[in-house]
Amino acid sequence: MKINKFTKMIIGKHNIENGVLLAPMESVTDLPFRVICKKMGADIVYTEFIASEALIRDVQRSINKMQFREDERPIAVQIFGSKIESMVESAKIVEESGADILDINYGCWVKKVVNNNSGAALLKDLSLMENMTKELVKAVKIPVTVKTRLGWDENSINIIEVAKTLESTGIAALTIHCRTREMAMRGNADWTWINRVKEKVNLPIILNGDVRSPQDVKRAFAETNCDALMIGRAAIGNPFLFKQIKAFSNNNEIIGEPSLEERINTLFLHLNLNIESKGFPRGLYEFRKHYSGYLKGLYNSSQYRQRLVVAMSVEEIHSIINELLEELNHYWATKPDQELGVGN
Ligand SMILES: Cc1cc2nc3c(=O)[nH]c(=O)nc-3n(C[C@H](O)[C@H](O)[C@H](O)COP(=O)(O)O)c2cc1C
Repeated sequence: MKINKFTKMIIGKHNIENGVLLAPMESVTDLPFRVICKKMGADIVYTEFIASEALIRDVQRSINKMQFREDERPIAVQIFGSKIESMVESAKIVEESGADILDINYGCWVKKVVNNNSGAALLKDLSLMENMTKELVKAVKIPVTVKTRLGWDENSINIIEVAKTLESTGIAALTIHCRTREMAMRGNADWTWINRVKEKVNLPIILNGDVRSPQDVKRAFAETNCDALMIGRAAIGNPFLFKQIKAFSNNNEIIGEPSLEERINTLFLHLNLNIESKGFPRGLYEFRKHYSGYLKGLYNSSQYRQRLVVAMSVEEIHSIINELLEELNHYWATKPDQELGVGN
């Protein structure tokens, strides 16, 4: 089952082999989550998208989104906007922050964003896309990459023209979310466009959309000539996926679900990072969405989860988790063949 193909992608000074990247995701890929995914094996991690207009106005929330730790490198910071001057100014801010890669969002489907002539709206205005990208490549020394979609809708798929246009601007790589804007997140990603694009341009192409398992990674590398892959939703609540993929692609090793010890250790590492980077109690409150992922499938975990999401201190969380571990120990003592106590 080993990944037979060897791919190498060069972005600036970064050599990425059989690359599997963490996708930018708003309200998901914050610093703590990125650090965890990086530790698990993600080759490049991306910030959530940041509004250029907010960045140049020093909006603290947007500045915070750009903050990263040294152990995240290489880190890509993603920006979006409709005005070339604001995008150029914010690109310089991103570069000054020490980021390794500047990523431009030409793919966001959300109405509020496209109505503002940003994100996927640029798929309908290739002249603005070209001019904006050219100016951004000129404005910074770090590599500039782009993330976009196949086209606006099924009747106007223009990814080949988009890729050719972007290649001429000097970008370092192009990520293609293999859906149209119209599809939003519905339907299936159509990976067949990757080879059609690769035939026409010389750019590193990163495949994105519906990569959910080590087997998908193998299939994507086998069926397409992509230079790397990017994973979004499948990593939410399951950062261990990167570890499974790396074990599979590097050593032909199939590793199963993470052990209970690994899940709990990662939960506390993630929680501590959250509090460290966002402060208390915000870091604790914002962590609540993560309990279900870490405890998924564990015997009787829903009862504990309900208590965890209202817990008000780290001590309380430790004590609830200890109770859960005790109950699981008891469960295993009576049903030893149930490895994780899965079934609730
Ligand atoms: C909650 C959420 C937030 C997202 N935010 C962003 C974003 O900020 N920038 C971006 O380029 N794409 C964003 N996306 C799209 C993902 O990066 C990715 O293209 C999409 O989820 C398809 O990949 P997947 O099938 O692996 O999830 C977001 C997706 C989700 C689910």
